[in-house]
Amino acid sequence: MNENVRIAVVGATGVVGREVLSALLEQGVPSEQLSVLASERSQAVELDYGEDTVEVEKATPESFRGIGLALLATPPSVSRTLAPAAQAAGAWVVDASPAFRADGNVPLVLPTFNPEVLGATFKGRIISVPSAVTSALVSLLAPLHKAFGVVRAQVTAMMGTSSAGVGGVNELEKQTAGLLSGREPEAHVFPHRIGFNLVPQVGAFMANSPWTEEEAGWTLEAARLFGARGETPVIAGTAVQVPTFYGHGLSLHVQLKVAAPVEQARAALKTSPALKVLDAPGEKVYPMPMLLTADPTIHVGRLRTFPQAPEWLTLFAAVDNAGRGAALNLVEAGLGLLARPA
Ligand SMILES: NC(=O)c1ccc[n+]([C@@H]2O[C@H](COP(=O)([O-])OP(=O)(O)OC[C@H]3O[C@@H](n4cnc5c(N)ncnc54)[C@H](OP(=O)(O)O)[C@@H]3O)[C@@H](O)[C@H]2O)c1
Repeated sequence: MNENVRIAVVGATGVVGREVLSALLEQGVPSEQLSVLASERSQAVELDYGEDTVEVEKATPESFRGIGLALLATPPSVSRTLAPAAQAAGAWVVDASPAFRADGNVPLVLPTFNPEVLGATFKGRIISVPSAVTSALVSLLAPLHKAFGVVRAQVTAMMGTSSAGVGGVNELEKQTAGLLSGREPEAHVFPHRIGFNLVPQVGAFMANSPWTEEEAGWTLEAARLFGARGETPVIAGTAVQVPTFYGHGLSLHVQLKVAAPVEQARAALKTSPALKVLDAPGEKVYPMPMLLTADPTIHVGRLRTFPQAPEWLTLFAAVDNAGRGAALNLVEAGLGLLARPA
């Protein structure tokens, strides 16, 4: 990578932003090449960056002068202001928020699925990456769709509290400690108590709809990603907030066009470098969020079919929502944009 290109990491103090810094460090990007930005609240905070520390500056629309690449891990309202400002300053912009995921003028890129878009001609300099659950669903369904055809997929996504950022992590920690000490918990980030509970609502409900924005996003984003290649599987399901910190678990039922024995389905999943198959139930080997630390793959296992409906494949998967599901997509997409021929 050209070492004269300056990279802005916006939202660097958040759950995703910190993972972005780790991924850039892993790529060998020196701290001098970085501009580390967040809200006014974090101004002058020092963050570890390998052996160095980097100082957080307040992000403003003027922060992007001289920036070649801006990686945004900010709330959507902030991205809607800062992404166009970074673009106007001449930077390539990759946004992790839902702000542009449904915008037909902004390419939606999952670098392990459609990296070709990064080198293609498109309007503007902003691209968007899908949600962590969509990233996992598309990665899981792609090899099955190619081998057997996927008609529909029904998912229950069990989402750790870091899906709601640092605030979500802190709320679970506080409520759990409080409940163990007999204190009545207060819910601020989530609609109900999350400590020792499950909440079948992640994010807001869509206007006049029984679906949440999170759930509707999976259908829409998967349609954008698969749609560019032809037939789109129908994806629908329920997002459940669970009292864990990091990692999401996905219970997935996939209706195939052509019934596939489990061995063939497992072989198809193994062809994808984005996936790691952990499927030896007799030895208690299967995906679990606790196994995801620093693993850039999505784990999949518990593959099953049943004779009465052989075209339905049942499986369980786990994804590191902040790392593989967000930060790695941001960094891989950003570096892909910088590699475009001038
Ligand atoms: N968490 C996930 O699993 C996940 C997965 C995929 C996509 N995403 C998306 O990624 C984005 C970030 O999520 P997160 O979980 O990392 O949230 P987070 O932990 O709450 O972090 C938000 C970051 O945005 C910064 N920020 C807030 N207001 C700002 C402002 N006005 N100007 C500049 N920076 C501001 C915060 O800075 P301060 O610390 O100074 O407040 C913080 O660094 C969201 O849009 C989310 O939807 C999250």
